Amino acid sequence: MVSFLIKTFGCQFNELYSAAIADALVRGGNQSVEDLDKASLVIIDSCAVRKKSEEKAFSFLGEAAKTIGARNIVFIGCVASVDRERAVRIAGHGLRIIEGTMSLDAILAVVETLAPIELDDSPPRSLFPTADIELIRGCESYCTYCIVPAARGREISIDGADVLRSALGAVRSGFSELLFLGQNINKYRSSFGGLVGILSQVDAIEGSFWFWFLSSHPANFEPIEVRRLMELQHIEHRLHLPLQSGSDRILERMNRHYTLSQYADLVRPIRDAAGWALTTDIIVGFPGETNDDFLRTIDAVQEFRFDGVFLAKYSDRQGTPSSRMGDKVPQSVIDERHAMLLRVIQDLSREGNQRVAGQVVEVLVLSRQGSDKAFGRSIDGRNVWFSWMGQEPQVGRFMRVLIDHGSKEGLYGTTI
Ligand code: 5AD
Ligand code: SF4
Repeated sequence: MVSFLIKTFGCQFNELYSAAIADALVRGGNQSVEDLDKASLVIIDSCAVRKKSEEKAFSFLGEAAKTIGARNIVFIGCVASVDRERAVRIAGHGLRIIEGTMSLDAILAVVETLAPIELDDSPPRSLFPTADIELIRGCESYCTYCIVPAARGREISIDGADVLRSALGAVRSGFSELLFLGQNINKYRSSFGGLVGILSQVDAIEGSFWFWFLSSHPANFEPIEVRRLMELQHIEHRLHLPLQSGSDRILERMNRHYTLSQYADLVRPIRDAAGWALTTDIIVGFPGETNDDFLRTIDAVQEFRFDGVFLAKYSDRQGTPSSRMGDKVPQSVIDERHAMLLRVIQDLSREGNQRVAGQVVEVLVLSRQGSDKAFGRSIDGRNVWFSWMGQEPQVGRFMRVLIDHGSKEGLYGTTI
């Protein structure tokens, strides 16, 4: 038996891989620990999307190498494949590095040389009640700021029958939510067709469950597909569609292949429908972003009334085309724009959540918080903190909650 610690940075993909590794190790009879000095095996699942996350992974790697030695560390994720030299310099030889493009099977094969594991096809239990399911791996969209195409490599669609088998298995074993994953999920192709094709098959599964998917790319999505997805029975009432910038000039420099007006056409069905939420990713301070470009982004955020925005400060990633652009925005300006846009976003979130007051929403229970409170997520993706009358909430159950009020963080109410 081995005591292991898994440290995860970054995206939903890393969460899924880390959870699957942890589950396989636990089934193999090993023990999960929280402290470095109690661990005899450390797995670091790293993220290279921004400089800050990369530095965190390297700093943890250094600490782990000092405590348990490089030979007992498995270093995976995007940083492992874009800067293995630095990883070896920090940890020393003997570090087990697995490139981010590798599949879960390949990672588990290396982990197995260090600790017993047991394989199982079912979704990771530790993510219950959500089953994360990979649809497409890698990315070939080459946004000029992004390290992912270099780190994760070419696009590989998972076989449609395998996806359906995973979805069916998850629903039958009691998972309440399926989350389909792809760096650019609109590029998915299988014998069932593209994204709409496979999700329509999933929708036909019998049972009580919701599903949603991450992340979409506006350049590979058609308004008719958005409308068809909105008609599915089990789909959550939310769309996450990264906009990145409200300026066509910057979108072009980002190599995004759409204009603001095309984005508007895509999200119109969502904005016209009651009860659907729209969230996005925005980067401020991309090289060459003028004050006018930035104001266009603010206008766009207000026009689309985003229900949530993942706001990032532009971060220079070595080897990306934007890192070679000459007209960098000074850090102080990036910080200022970030603070300004954040205020706009928080006001929108507060207003959006306050509008739900007085309504009854369907909520998936995610955790219990003490003896008289529970936490969950509404069908349109909002955080919900609630108390109950009668039936006790159980993780994975759906409940109807009457919303009393909203804040910028979410909704508060009582079950009916
Ligand atoms: N700098 C800042 N944000 C970035 N993202 C990706 N690369 C960078 C970068 N170099 C953001 C994008 C993307 C999200 C996952 O991370 O907004 O949609
Ligand atoms: Fe990066 Fe663009 Fe691919 Fe998303 S679509 S992973 S931002 S290159």
